[in-house]
Amino acid sequence: MADLIAEEKIDQIRQAVDIVEVISDYVQLKKQGRNYFGLCPFHGESTPSFSVSPDKQIFHCFGCGAGGNVFTFLMELDGLSFQETAIKLAAKVNIDLGINLPQSQGGKKVSKELQAMLEAHELLRKFYHHLLVNTKEGQQALEYLLNRGFTQESIDKFQIGYSLNSWDFVYKFLSKRNFSPEWMEKAGLIIKRERDGTYFDRFRDRIMFPIFDRHGNTIAFSGRSLGADEPKYLNSPETAIFNKSKILYNYHLAKPSIKKMQYAVLFEGFADVIAADRAGVENGIATMGTALTDEHISLLRQNVQTVTICYDSDKAGIEAAYRAGNHLHDAGFQIKVAIMTDGMDPDEYIQKNGQDKFRNEVIGASLTWMGFKFLYYRRGKNLQHEGDQLAYIEQIIKEISKLDKAVERDHYLRQLATEFSLSLEALMQQQRQIYFAEKRKSTGKNEPAQKPLLSFKPAEELKTKYVTAERRLIAHMLKDRDVAYKVQELLAGTTFNKDEHQAIITYLLGFYEDHLVPDASSFLTYIQDDNLRRMVVDIEMMSINDELTTQELTDYIKQVLNYQNLLKIREKEEELKEAEREKNFTKAAEVLTEINHLRKLL
Ligand code: UTP
Ligand code: MN
Repeated sequence: MADLIAEEKIDQIRQAVDIVEVISDYVQLKKQGRNYFGLCPFHGESTPSFSVSPDKQIFHCFGCGAGGNVFTFLMELDGLSFQETAIKLAAKVNIDLGINLPQSQGGKKVSKELQAMLEAHELLRKFYHHLLVNTKEGQQALEYLLNRGFTQESIDKFQIGYSLNSWDFVYKFLSKRNFSPEWMEKAGLIIKRERDGTYFDRFRDRIMFPIFDRHGNTIAFSGRSLGADEPKYLNSPETAIFNKSKILYNYHLAKPSIKKMQYAVLFEGFADVIAADRAGVENGIATMGTALTDEHISLLRQNVQTVTICYDSDKAGIEAAYRAGNHLHDAGFQIKVAIMTDGMDPDEYIQKNGQDKFRNEVIGASLTWMGFKFLYYRRGKNLQHEGDQLAYIEQIIKEISKLDKAVERDHYLRQLATEFSLSLEALMQQQRQIYFAEKRKSTGKNEPAQKPLLSFKPAEELKTKYVTAERRLIAHMLKDRDVAYKVQELLAGTTFNKDEHQAIITYLLGFYEDHLVPDASSFLTYIQDDNLRRMVVDIEMMSINDELTTQELTDYIKQVLNYQNLLKIREKEEELKEAEREKNFTKAAEVLTEINHLRKLL
């Protein structure tokens, strides 16, 4: 990696890569006019403020201010260096960089030890699978799976395997292939005995489910006991390559289907993911026995906005679905919840009622998030009982108060009114009361009756004017080399009022010295400062007229210069006061004339 990548190679990559295509791997984009829009991957949001310009090959989020070109996008999102990004993009568009590349995991530089960990997992995944499918030792495990409804096809697809009933098979198998025992221990595949420092295998006599990362590398295993042995599932520990809070089971296989269907199905266990996949639900994923984390959510957000939660329908499952749903809801997802009868889990349901029923009557009949909450608050209550009934109604009204749309609030209030034979007016009134009570609670005080009207002092008004004028001028300068020189000429030695703007212009004029045509994306690489780069992207995304008329140009320049005049007036006003204090009336009259002269220029 010591080799620097030649400048012209970078340009070649930039020209070959399409930013929309690259970002589409992470963000769901919709075309609107010239640009594409989606949910920003850099901050949590529920309405899209992230846009990508195919013309300029840049992206920008007006929510959090993130912005840049295809290089900065990958650098920030994947945490790659510039070189690593260039290597990743070059591979994508088949450009030979002519340098030796290290083995990589999703573009990240991987050390020898991590590489060995990944290789060991890869080898074992293949070997465990072979043992299950082809050998006498694996026969009992295979029968167990087939009895549970697993098919040969899904055993292959999910690369399910079997670990031998041996204390040192894996240890020997890996040692023979020159894997260092310390590192295989760190990889969680073998365990060190305290008493004598010898090693033994972690997984023995278990059905082995490989866990893949988003690139399809095997990074861990979960082994299910064949009988009632505890624990039921034994997982790899957290390692340098396996972090449970970031991994969603089946993500790499489900991703295309998630994108196509525009929703993901979230299961509690991976046995459910596999059973659902058999039933034709291929967009299923599951956490590794943990609650949903922010990291899981941001991984999901890169591809989808809607999630159907399909947890076990027992008490614990419903509680977990409520928590996961709230978490996803807060992160701006659309949520549905699929429920099975008799507290079953999806795998049991499919075995008992068949695949079609699961697809149509469970996934296809999922409740809306609000519909689920109706059901959730009902549990454990006897609605014939007045106290329970009132408590229930209050809980539901609280939930209704959180809805943004009046139509939706109306819909659910009507539903409630009908169910309990209540007057709609009374419910509406209570809903309003609850709404304001909750609002007071959240702001901690009464809202002021009216916000003070925004009022600009003249100086502030001029300030916003010159800022806008400077931004517009820069926007045109970025688009047209001639305009850039023209503005420079008209300013006749004065600089822009905002230091950052002046810095951008300095960069831009430097850039134009050896770039005859404007190139937004390439200019961004040229700027060394993050803050300025963001500002440039922000300006690039402004909509401006294609042509800059002379009138417009002189107006903008005037506004820039005006502020400087205003500053001069302020100075003179101080002088005037001083002169008046000293009773130097001749001086005062002089200064006053100057002030009036300057005022006329404004
Ligand atoms: P479940 O107990 O619901 O498993 O745990 P399941 O999917 O129904 O499995 P089968 O049908 O009995 O084989 C759900 C998830 O919790 C984690 C696993 O990730 C599992 O998929 N888990 C469960 C463990 O990590 N260890 C355990 O001992 C049990
Ligand atoms: Mn189960």
